[in-house]
Amino acid sequence: MMGSGAQNSTNKDRKMVNSIIFPNVNALAQSAAEHFCQNATAAIQTKGMFTVALSGGSTPVHLYQLLATDSFRHRVDWAKIHFFWGDERCVPPDHPDSNYLSAWENLLSKAPVPQNNIHRILAEQNPNQAAAAYEETLRSFFSKREGDTQAAGVDLCLLGMGEDGHTASLFPGTPVIFEKTHWVRPVFVEKLSTWRITLTAPFLRQSSKIIFLVTGSNKSQTLQKVLHGPYQPEQFPSQLIADAPCKPLWLLDEEAAALI
Ligand code: 6PG
Repeated sequence: MMGSGAQNSTNKDRKMVNSIIFPNVNALAQSAAEHFCQNATAAIQTKGMFTVALSGGSTPVHLYQLLATDSFRHRVDWAKIHFFWGDERCVPPDHPDSNYLSAWENLLSKAPVPQNNIHRILAEQNPNQAAAAYEETLRSFFSKREGDTQAAGVDLCLLGMGEDGHTASLFPGTPVIFEKTHWVRPVFVEKLSTWRITLTAPFLRQSSKIIFLVTGSNKSQTLQKVLHGPYQPEQFPSQLIADAPCKPLWLLDEEAAALI
């Protein structure tokens, strides 16, 4: 059992939700770190490497910091882990808003990760060029065969969920929600008046395992709609990923899970 959460919170007249609910973000991060290590160990044992797409935002920082501590840092073979990102803000890698910087400062600079294993989205470039370059990175890494359209996907994809129901940078009302072929797209987020680069549903849904990390009472109403409301991905893009074939796991704190 990973963490002290209540397993599989289900409700008799609602869809089964693969979730674990924790009293606080620290307990959630502990469980997430255990999942990370166990998935990494299994993947490295079976295929000699582990690929993970990191999430941006504040919630996963607790996980990154925990993985960098002595109790976890020695549990995985970092030289065999490849790091990708689910999305990135269109800022330089040393900008405080950079998801890469957040992972670098809290984890990657503190663990023996080979530089070549860090596949940063070059989001300081023109958004279209950055998205095209990252798609090429993914296609050459995950589909060795020419013209292979079936995304292999990462072993583990970490995702958050915004109060508006977005995940990665799949924001409500943006055209990227309907993307069916590209694995990476640039997206202009009106309400933030910023460009972002995001992995798309076709790629994200191919992940072998997806873990959503969601905390805070401000997420509870949205989470209820994402998990139990009608299918409205344009309004709640997290729904694009919630029913991925791997059956995503939701690691939630009690506040976020209050209505499910
Ligand atoms: C980002 C993330 C984004 C994030 C959610 C939740 O770049 O900000 O990819 O999708 O996961 O906004 O963020 P919090 O964990 O900070 O609530």
